Amino acid sequence: MVKVNLSGCSSFVSQAAYDAISTDALAAFDTLMGGNGAGNDFLGWKTLPSQVPDSLIAEFEAIRDDWKFKGIDLVVVIGIGGSYLGARCAIEALSHSFASLMGGKKDAPAVVFAGNSLSEEYLAELMDLVAGRNTACIVISKSGTTTEPAVAFRVVKQAIEQRYADAAERIIAITDAKKGALKTLATQEGYKTFVVPDNVGGRFSVLTPVGLLPILLAGFDVRRMLEGAREMQLALQDRSMENPAVKYAAMRNLLYKEYGKTIEILVSYNPKFQYLGEWWKQLYGESEGKDGKGIFPASVNFTTDLHSMGQFIQDGNRILFETVVNVENSNREVTIGLDSQNLDQLNYLAGRRVEHCNAMAMLGTKLAHIDGGVPQIEVSVERIDAFNLGGLFYFFEFACGVSAYLLGVNPFNQPGVEAYKKNMFALLGKPGYEEQGAVLRERLG
Ligand code: PA5
Repeated sequence: MVKVNLSGCSSFVSQAAYDAISTDALAAFDTLMGGNGAGNDFLGWKTLPSQVPDSLIAEFEAIRDDWKFKGIDLVVVIGIGGSYLGARCAIEALSHSFASLMGGKKDAPAVVFAGNSLSEEYLAELMDLVAGRNTACIVISKSGTTTEPAVAFRVVKQAIEQRYADAAERIIAITDAKKGALKTLATQEGYKTFVVPDNVGGRFSVLTPVGLLPILLAGFDVRRMLEGAREMQLALQDRSMENPAVKYAAMRNLLYKEYGKTIEILVSYNPKFQYLGEWWKQLYGESEGKDGKGIFPASVNFTTDLHSMGQFIQDGNRILFETVVNVENSNREVTIGLDSQNLDQLNYLAGRRVEHCNAMAMLGTKLAHIDGGVPQIEVSVERIDAFNLGGLFYFFEFACGVSAYLLGVNPFNQPGVEAYKKNMFALLGKPGYEEQGAVLRERLG
């Protein structure tokens, strides 16, 4: 269960202001629960944890077994934004830090990601890898028309087709049930397909096949992940300020609206959560950054980034607050040994676990940053595992819905993402964009 601790904000906000925003936060909770707010045709994610059928997971397991039988040792997952960040976050969090250098996870193929940039070098290097491995591919695009994954898929698809007679059995498409270029292609080529439900937006789709299939193929327990999400779904029904999601949504909005804190930094003290930051940034950035409003979501990994971003956070422009994801228990133990010479002067830590040093760094940083004018929200999870990650995904999604309604925006659209796409299409010469292309070229000189 996620716990939210607001003690690191108490010296910054008044009780009266918190009480006032609590009323609005509970109204936003009612809007989300009642399904009567803006974008309410995109609320399918709310019930996913209790609605994903076990038969779907069994289908994924059958694919895993079939691909294992074929000796597939590399799965390229193609997608961008919500069509990749959830899976990447979970796989990075649950994997051994040196998995790729230790021969990978036992009994699971290596899962790598593509289609999340237009880097030619990345794709060329991916092809170097594909050439030496027994490869399959999952292509994910809800709209089925996004350029980055479409370009990567064309390249990977051709490589697979050139090498394997059973190419169509090595490709799975996850897309809209009925429409889009990817759906048409998948039907024509006879690929196995899974559906991104109409009522689930990309950034809320980690508990659909979009996230679950790659995570399962990478060797992780998606049933446990769904259990964690289910437990969280139940816990967050509570209409009170004890509800951790409402508490988090209320405080971040209060800091933004009344105290000029326009940037929220998601902080982790475990490098396994680097991609939690990436997933969270998309979730909150796309859901809230619109209509001239929104908290800018940033992320850092401590203690690493205390040696790079620490100066600014401590002492720079006072527009920041932090949300620290506190992992209460480490899954592994390393104890610091005694050294007879003690030249590094660390003997005072002999017998202590490294996690103890990490915890003290966290507490010391909390106090230093509070002294420096940076309020701190703490979101605690018991440990990093599939169960807690499922809960954390659901917690942040639910809190995002409450928070965006509290801010007064539609959490479930992303009109701003279209602007760059139109310009890119025009500059690439996509049919239908000729006039705009001429205008843009003139502007660019
Ligand atoms: O959250 C969203 O809807 C977007 O960021 C999408 O996830 C992203 O643009 C990828 O879109 P698609 O899955 O349609 O290729």
